[in-house]
Amino acid sequence: MFHFLKLEIDSFADRKKNETSQSSSIRSPLLRLPGKVAVITGGARGIGAGTAKLFAANGAHVVIADVLDDIGAALAVSIGGRYIHCDVTLESDVEAAVNLAVTWKGKIDIMFNNAGIPGRDGSITNLDPGDTNRILAVNLQGVLNGIKHAARSMIRTGTRGSIICAASSAAVMGGLGSHGYTASKGAVVAAARSSACELGEYGIRVNCISAHGVPSEMLVGAFRRILGRAEMAAEEVAEIVGERGSLVKGRGGKVEDVAYGAVFLASEEEAGFVTGHNLVIDGGYTCADGNMSFIYKED
Ligand SMILES: NC(=O)c1ccc[n+]([C@@H]2O[C@H](COP(=O)([O-])OP(=O)(O)OC[C@H]3O[C@@H](n4cnc5c(N)ncnc54)[C@H](O)[C@@H]3O)[C@@H](O)[C@H]2O)c1
Repeated sequence: MFHFLKLEIDSFADRKKNETSQSSSIRSPLLRLPGKVAVITGGARGIGAGTAKLFAANGAHVVIADVLDDIGAALAVSIGGRYIHCDVTLESDVEAAVNLAVTWKGKIDIMFNNAGIPGRDGSITNLDPGDTNRILAVNLQGVLNGIKHAARSMIRTGTRGSIICAASSAAVMGGLGSHGYTASKGAVVAAARSSACELGEYGIRVNCISAHGVPSEMLVGAFRRILGRAEMAAEEVAEIVGERGSLVKGRGGKVEDVAYGAVFLASEEEAGFVTGHNLVIDGGYTCADGNMSFIYKED
């Protein structure tokens, strides 16, 4: 995978060198998003950051929109992109992120509504409405803000764009996240479907990615809290997911798994007929009960 990524990055550098002499209609087979303009919320770290790098390596111009200003801005510089402070719960911030893309490159082709928070763990019998409101504000209203402003801009510029929303394996199967988080992610899948229904008329596609078991700050933080082990490292979390949270034994999720899924959904050429879809990237965990696999053993 990393060899392939290096090829893409090398190819991106070559394309940059040659871009004045090349016709824009010629598409390198290694560049999957040439000239596309993307906004990634929550793009400063984790899955969003990995996707920002892979989008840029595939020829896209990337706006990173996050509340982590220092690392977000540094990442944007490193990939030739732009950074904007954006709290997705504030509609005006999200609108400003989309406007930055349009001011910079004249349009927005790809919106990745990726920003998310985990919410408070614990029993439904102790649910804190304040926490629920906060998680819905970020994970659901933040996504709705992104769909709304990306769609407005795409319609205005006649762009057949791709809107991608971060859902979760928790939207597919119970027991994988806090109650508020699970509810928010289920609602994201529903909102993406209804938006896909409306926006297809303009050639705009709306899809979800349901990631699982990627040892980001969010997931490692959750393991540390729940298991009461502040020293837990990302590698240990990856190992546990690989053993107990994946049908592909020994293989947990990686940022790159989700980033490649996002590149696929973003590409009109590859996923132009895919909309209203929830792309589950979970090592098969939510599709079968691995505990019953003994029934397939020979006598
Ligand atoms: N890691 C996993 O295994 C996993 C599984 C399923 C779904 N997801 C989803 O993937 C997305 C990315 O999560 P991650 O795992 O990379 O976690 P992460 O915590 O590393 O990244 C989340 C990013 O969102 C940003 N963010 C949080 N609140 C924000 C706000 N109000 N406005 C703007 N940005 C904000 C954070 O600053 C951070 O950069 C989330 O929506 C998460 O729910 C992750």
